Amino acid sequence: MNVLVIGSGGREHALTWKIKQSPRVQKVFVAPGNAGTASDAENIDIDPLNFAALASFARQHAVDLTVVGPEAPLCAGIVDHFQQERLKIFGPTRAAAQLEGSKVFCKQLLRSAGVPTADFWVFHKPAAAFEFVEERFGETPMDVPLVVKTDGLAAGKGALVCFTMEEVKKAIRRIAIDREFGDAGNRFLIEARLSGPEVSLMAITDGQTILMLPPAQDYKRAYDGDRGPNTGGMGAYCPAPVIDEETIAWAGENVFVPTIHAMKRARMPFQGILYAGLMLTPQGPKVLEYNVRFGDPECQPLLMRLQTDLVDILELVLAGRLAELQDVAWDPRPAICVVMAAEGYPNDYRKGDTIRGLETAAALPDTKVFHAGTKLVNGQAVTSGGRVLGVTALGSSVANAKLNAYTAVKEIRWQGAWCRKDISDGSLPIAVKS
Ligand code: AMP
Ligand code: GLY
Repeated sequence: MNVLVIGSGGREHALTWKIKQSPRVQKVFVAPGNAGTASDAENIDIDPLNFAALASFARQHAVDLTVVGPEAPLCAGIVDHFQQERLKIFGPTRAAAQLEGSKVFCKQLLRSAGVPTADFWVFHKPAAAFEFVEERFGETPMDVPLVVKTDGLAAGKGALVCFTMEEVKKAIRRIAIDREFGDAGNRFLIEARLSGPEVSLMAITDGQTILMLPPAQDYKRAYDGDRGPNTGGMGAYCPAPVIDEETIAWAGENVFVPTIHAMKRARMPFQGILYAGLMLTPQGPKVLEYNVRFGDPECQPLLMRLQTDLVDILELVLAGRLAELQDVAWDPRPAICVVMAAEGYPNDYRKGDTIRGLETAAALPDTKVFHAGTKLVNGQAVTSGGRVLGVTALGSSVANAKLNAYTAVKEIRWQGAWCRKDISDGSLPIAVKS
């Protein structure tokens, strides 16, 4: 069979690499892809939001299955478009993708389904929001435990965590008056600020059966020790020992099951990857947000550990027969992914630098260098994005996986390349079952 992967980041390179391993797959196309997917598969130059062109490509090239990486095409309805054209595609419909595309939709669904999440209030106008915070916290302006969030997609930047009245008012102004996030801020939420460690818990579902995937943790801040600005994610590892088996099972029952049921009751059955960003608060796990796709970079260490044929799993989901899936096999070894970024990221960054040392890194055992912001120029990989590579490695322990990943990082260089040095730190030792 032939498969089409939509997207161009590290997550999509990992999906491509894994799908390519299936003995049933002949060709993998990636739209638009990067330098890494160009060598592992075949890139096609079509924009992920050009549904008509993608569908017509899929038809002309006998694509049997399309897999969507990023949220933008899902929220814009790529799955509905392909389904109307009777093309098989993995991911949620536009209606179901609102779980990520609209935080107001998500929070209202969580509330109605009784899923634990922070208290929240919805606003359309800044005046009502100012009035609300003054009324509630006017007497304690130095202690205002709130988060102000845009309703719509804002590339992970639309959540403004606040501690004082001044910060809350500034956040409301940025979203609703300066309109820094454009239409994403047409509606906005004020949420209670929670505290605790965060974990990325993903599940794959056909709308009926839910298969929980091993937990991962994402290092979102730019610099070591969790300092600096937020990024798309500077690294991740899996499994993350911050959450134990019992709590994962609890989240399955109390977070994923009621959410999937509520979506079904609302006639928006959810099929695809459901990713819960959980905060492990002293009162138990609470949902911070849902994403409707694999996390990036969480996908890279996760798929590095998956031993079962991913295409078999995706096809069972599409057939609504996930319940028939026998055991899923995971490499017992942990995996870590270190993101190598371009100089300047997450602000304006350098582009167009030639990347050296990729062959030496590729030859290291238990290591895979996934490309993100790269492109081929005259047969050479050059930087073209902020997050450039996701250097991913397995190891007998987290410490060993970390050593393997950073050994590969040392082989790779370009002008201004940098990465966090502490990915996976803070983790407890994981006992590797044989
Ligand atoms: P979100 O886009 O909703 O996932 O938020 C991005 C980040 O903001 C999360 O990963 C958290 O670190 C932080 N955050 C979001 N909501 C809350 C909350 N209610 N309390 C504390 N931190 C939050
Ligand atoms: N790594 C966080 C995300 O994919 O949204």
